[in-house]
Amino acid sequence: MPSYQSLDAVKNISVVGTGTIGASWATYFLSKGFKVNAWDPSDGWEQRILSFINNAWPQIQNLGFIGEFKETNIILCSSLKEALTGTDFVQESAPEQLKLKQSLFKQIDEYTSKNIIVSSSTSGLIMSDMQGRLENANRFVVGHPFNPPHLIPLVEVLGGKNTDVLAVDWAINFYNKIGKHAIKLKKEVPGHLANRLQAALWREAVLAVQNDLASVEDINAAVAMGPGLRWALMGPHMIMNLTGGAGGYRKMLDHFGPGISGWWETMNENPQLSTVLKKELINGIEEEAKGRSIAQLEEERDEQLVELLIMLKRLKKTGH
Ligand SMILES: NC(=O)c1ccc[n+]([C@@H]2O[C@H](COP(=O)([O-])OP(=O)(O)OC[C@H]3O[C@@H](n4cnc5c(N)ncnc54)[C@H](O)[C@@H]3O)[C@@H](O)[C@H]2O)c1
Repeated sequence: MPSYQSLDAVKNISVVGTGTIGASWATYFLSKGFKVNAWDPSDGWEQRILSFINNAWPQIQNLGFIGEFKETNIILCSSLKEALTGTDFVQESAPEQLKLKQSLFKQIDEYTSKNIIVSSSTSGLIMSDMQGRLENANRFVVGHPFNPPHLIPLVEVLGGKNTDVLAVDWAINFYNKIGKHAIKLKKEVPGHLANRLQAALWREAVLAVQNDLASVEDINAAVAMGPGLRWALMGPHMIMNLTGGAGGYRKMLDHFGPGISGWWETMNENPQLSTVLKKELINGIEEEAKGRSIAQLEEERDEQLVELLIMLKRLKKTGH
């Protein structure tokens, strides 16, 4: 039975691919006191990751981390091999392409010690397809974060057909130890779990535009000003438990279950992302954004996320 690096011995983390997700992961690992070895094949990535970290650092400080960002804690490597040499854990965040990840995994398998865990940020690829017949497939797991990983606690962890269950457990323990909230998925399905939940809601949100149920802005408000507020605190099952009043989930299932099952019968239509519908969605969002750029909206989102996380931390709902 393979034995893996002890959790306490993890000091150096390799961040492979430093785009949207990799740069954010690097920020998080640095804030938790790890040395990061980063590598990306694109031009100008070194300047981009440093600027990302410098911009994100004040948010991390607002969450209670008081240290300064020390550039000496991150090594901007000039090759994949250099980034992987002597590493204790790998977080892979390369583009979402099966062939690319398969060939990258082969190199990672070759360049790393066999007792360290390799975790992929993939949002939708299946680990069994990516790990194929790697020599040490047992230690490859999915560690799927939510954007931006330096703020959002959730990480979905699962293995492929050839992954060792102990490797999955190792990754869950590791992420939890460093302040993330890891959940274990028991099966491989496209999109894992959280994005499927999100996709189910988004399907209805798109259908609501296609069927002219309400404006894009009102559909957003229907979530953000309503159930979304509760979902930041409790998940859908717990919310439904409370819907049943003193009778809890049992009462809710008996009382509201049949009615909602009736709605489900009417919910098997998929929206068609036609040119007209796409235009309607984009126009609606531009109207609501009122000239705010994507960067401004991201800043707004992250500022508010930090406030929410501070509150959740105070309530001991997250160990961030
Ligand atoms: N964007 C999201 O919201 C999100 C959320 C969770 C997970 N993910 C997953 O994270 C991964 C990265 O997504 P992203 O949004 O950061 O993409 P991105 O395009 O922003 O970044 C990908 C980076 O990988 C680099 N790259 C290209 N070829 C590479 C190679 N062979 N090896 C290593 N790096 C390489 C690119 O230069 C780029 O900097 C994907 O698997 C994606 O599914 C994305």
